[in-house]
Amino acid sequence: MRVLVTGAAGYIGSHASKRLLHDGHHVLALDDLSRGHQTPMDLLKQSHPDRFTFAHGRLGDRVKVKSLVDDLKIDTVMHFGALAYVGESVDRPLRYYQNNVAGAIAMLEALDCAESPIQRFIFSSSCATYGDPPDDLIPVPETCPQSPTSPYGRTKLHLEQILMDYADHRRAKGSPIALTMLRYFNVAGADSSGILGEDHDPETHLIPIAIQCALGQRDHISIFGTDYPTPDGTNIRDYVHVDDLVDAHLRAMERIEPGRTEAFNIGIGKGASVREVIEAVKRVSGSDFNVQEAPRRPGDAIALFADPSKIQSELGWSAQHTDLDEIVRSAYDWMKAHPKGYDDKN
Ligand SMILES: NC(=O)c1ccc[n+]([C@@H]2O[C@H](COP(=O)([O-])OP(=O)(O)OC[C@H]3O[C@@H](n4cnc5c(N)ncnc54)[C@H](O)[C@@H]3O)[C@@H](O)[C@H]2O)c1
Repeated sequence: MRVLVTGAAGYIGSHASKRLLHDGHHVLALDDLSRGHQTPMDLLKQSHPDRFTFAHGRLGDRVKVKSLVDDLKIDTVMHFGALAYVGESVDRPLRYYQNNVAGAIAMLEALDCAESPIQRFIFSSSCATYGDPPDDLIPVPETCPQSPTSPYGRTKLHLEQILMDYADHRRAKGSPIALTMLRYFNVAGADSSGILGEDHDPETHLIPIAIQCALGQRDHISIFGTDYPTPDGTNIRDYVHVDDLVDAHLRAMERIEPGRTEAFNIGIGKGASVREVIEAVKRVSGSDFNVQEAPRRPGDAIALFADPSKIQSELGWSAQHTDLDEIVRSAYDWMKAHPKGYDDKN
């Protein structure tokens, strides 16, 4: 297939691009490099010069998107491009709505007037759309009411709804599209070849922050809340390996037929507490770094992990990496080999 990958220079988009190329597909990578990196784009171009095109540009640039999509005869979109920091979205909500919602609408308009309308659209949604689910809905099924607690989560929910309306419109026009919304839980780990990894600045995710402590790049890690009603008092989250997440995208691309709209949770179906993650990083790295206890942060859900049974039964997907130490090790190996992240930042 011929796939437009938005946000391809970011963490997950770069891994998805690599897998698409490995499987023989063509990739048009679109990224404004606001949060992504040129280096993975150069590496993918070197390895697949004939099937990989990088376009430096914004989602909202209708003229550029339409011309690229027409020139490269794109039939599928994997839409990762977004601003994705919950805290920043609280400080700058309009920027988040402008980028993640208005930017995506502009891209959809460009796609809608392409010479050959796209047939498949796969959207990176988030467990943030569920907000803080009630105890009786943990593990979280797709039928859990969506009630996000941050502007970031709301941008994801709004775009899900916009995409569903667009899919209805395409069905009514007699030109159906396959729409899949993948609600990721916490994504972690790095590509097994050691080429790609996670390099966010600032880093806000627990596993890379703990690894930065293990590598001596931070002097401590804070645990926000140690009095939650969980076995060890700390929050629980579901960590899915990035390669497994990417595999779910490939399955959705290959198996969801035009005319169908689906949402799937992507998680391993069991949670790990903040303390368990920190212990795993200490075990894997052999480093005993400083851990400090801090008050709860407002808005942090107590426990959030997926019920992934729908994607297991409908797309035959299940996580292959379910051991926390293994997931942590893959992130650790990349970060140890790239202590400053991608070379373009060194
Ligand atoms: N990492 C996670 O744990 C996680 C969890 C749930 C959902 N998600 C979603 O998955 C997607 C990818 O996440 P990630 O961790 O790879 O993030 P990332 O920040 O590493 O990648 C996002 C990429 O999108 C690009 N981008 C942003 N706005 C753009 C625009 N207007 N035009 C062009 N490019 C733009 C950025 O430059 C960046 O390269 C995001 O949509 C995110 O919301 C991630």
